[in-house]
Amino acid sequence: MQGAPSDRDALQALLDFHVEAGVDLALDETPNNRFAEPKAETAKPKAAPSQPSAPSPRALPKAAAGAPEEVANMAREQARHARSLEELEAILTGFDGCALKFSAKNLAFADGNPEGRVMLVGEAPGADEDRIGKPFMGRSGQLLDRMLATIGLDRTQVYVANIVPWRPPGNRTPTPQEVAICKPFIARQIELASPEFVICLGGPAAQNLLGIKDGILRTRGRWYSYKTEDGREIRTLPTLHPAYLLRQPLQKRLGWRDFQALRRALDGRE
Ligand code: URA
Repeated sequence: MQGAPSDRDALQALLDFHVEAGVDLALDETPNNRFAEPKAETAKPKAAPSQPSAPSPRALPKAAAGAPEEVANMAREQARHARSLEELEAILTGFDGCALKFSAKNLAFADGNPEGRVMLVGEAPGADEDRIGKPFMGRSGQLLDRMLATIGLDRTQVYVANIVPWRPPGNRTPTPQEVAICKPFIARQIELASPEFVICLGGPAAQNLLGIKDGILRTRGRWYSYKTEDGREIRTLPTLHPAYLLRQPLQKRLGWRDFQALRRALDGRE
């Protein structure tokens, strides 16, 4: 057939385009044409008895319903009850309040050593982290490991987590609601790990943990104080995210400076 190969080529090109754009997940079983004209409302008969609604064709379960603040309060309440990191991970595994859980393959709770003096916090897992179920497993993670190695550290000495522990579909930025819902869990994770130093990897981690608005190019390399709910203060250093450094390799010297500052702090020289 003459037409078939070109149709296949066109479909393959379309698929490649979607994958390159980061669309690698189907949320519905059937495609939705969102450009189609909306169907005209059909008038409902006035006295019709109420009908049970047709089952939704969505294959994915839904997050627990409720206003984002209510769900965030529920998250805070559940996170507060965790007495260990293992308990916190189990609570998160059973938590249905964040819709990201239902599109993610795995919870990427943590990697590394929770007894370490340093805890590094990123924004959210990507495709590799989602597949493996641990933070910073892909190219960003490899660069992070090289940066840690320059100051004599590896993952047996540091603990790694993210603000949001489930991958947002297509690597989109987590919404403010998703962050608000997940924040009590990362806050409790920091409290339970109780590191001496927190390193915020990138602007979103710094802004969300420290409650600051400034961008990362302003805040990086400056020490802040992170306050846990139980009143402890942890020295916290924002630095550039490894994914940013992969895109802007010239900025690696700034990241290197920040890691040198961490080394000095670990040695009691800063
Ligand atoms: N980027 C992040 O912020 N976290 C990861 O785990 C991976 C990439």
